[in-house]
Amino acid sequence: MIPPETFNTARLHARKPRREDAPAAFAVYASDPIATKYLAWKPYTEVAPLADFFSDRIKDWATSSGHYGYMLCLKNSDLPIGSIGFIRKGHQAIFGYVLGQKYWGTGYMTEALSYLLTWAMAQPDIFRAGAFCDVDNPASARVMEKAGMTREGILRRYHIAPNISPEPRDCIMCAKVR
Ligand SMILES: CC(C)(COP(=O)(O)OP(=O)(O)OC[C@H]1O[C@@H](n2cnc3c(N)ncnc32)[C@H](O)[C@@H]1OP(=O)(O)O)[C@@H](O)C(=O)NCCC(=O)NCCS
Repeated sequence: MIPPETFNTARLHARKPRREDAPAAFAVYASDPIATKYLAWKPYTEVAPLADFFSDRIKDWATSSGHYGYMLCLKNSDLPIGSIGFIRKGHQAIFGYVLGQKYWGTGYMTEALSYLLTWAMAQPDIFRAGAFCDVDNPASARVMEKAGMTREGILRRYHIAPNISPEPRDCIMCAKVR
C-alpha cells in the first residue's frame, strides 16, 4: 500500500508537507486557538517548532512509517489552507484534518476526505477507514458523513483535547468499511 504523494480534487491540490510551509500553515490554522480547539495539540506560538513537525512528517513519508500527511492548497496556489492525513494501523486507516477558519463551510474538507476515503477503500488490505471527533464538534462529524462514512456511535472518554480539558472526552466515531 503506497498512498499517492499528491492528489487533486475539483478545487484542491494536496501534496506532501515541506519545512517552508510552516509560516503559511502557522498563519492560516496552526496558531489559531479556534481552528485547533478540538485537536490533540495546542496552537503553535512560534513557527520553528511547526517546521520541525513538518520535517517529521516528511521523514514519515520517506520511511513508510504508516503516517501520511498532506498539505491542502487551492488549485491555483501552492500555499496551504489546511492539512489532512491518516495513520495506517493494520487493516485500518484513521484520518485527521484541519482547515483554516476562513475556509470553513466551503466543502473543501469534504472534497479532500472523500478522495482519500475512496482511495483507502480501494486498497486490498484496508477494510476500515474512519475518524473520530469531539462530541461538541458536529461540523467535523458532518464532514465524515458527507464523505461517505457512517456514524457508529459515541466512544466515551476516548480522546484528550488539551485545549478544552486535561480529561479525556467523549467522541463521535465514524467509519466506512468493506
Ligand atoms: C471540521 C472542518 C474540517 C470542516 O471543514 P469544512 O470545509 O468547513 O466542511 P464542509 O463545508 O465540507 O462541511 C461542514 C458541514 O458541517 C455543517 N456544520 C457546520 N457547523 C455545524 C454545527 N455547529 N452543527 C452541525 N453541523 C454543522 C455544515 O452545515 C456542513 O454541512 P452541510 O454541507 O450538510 O450544510 C473545519 O471546520 C475545521 O477545520 N475545524 C477545525 C479542525 C477540526 O475540528 N478538525 C477535525 C478534528 S476531528
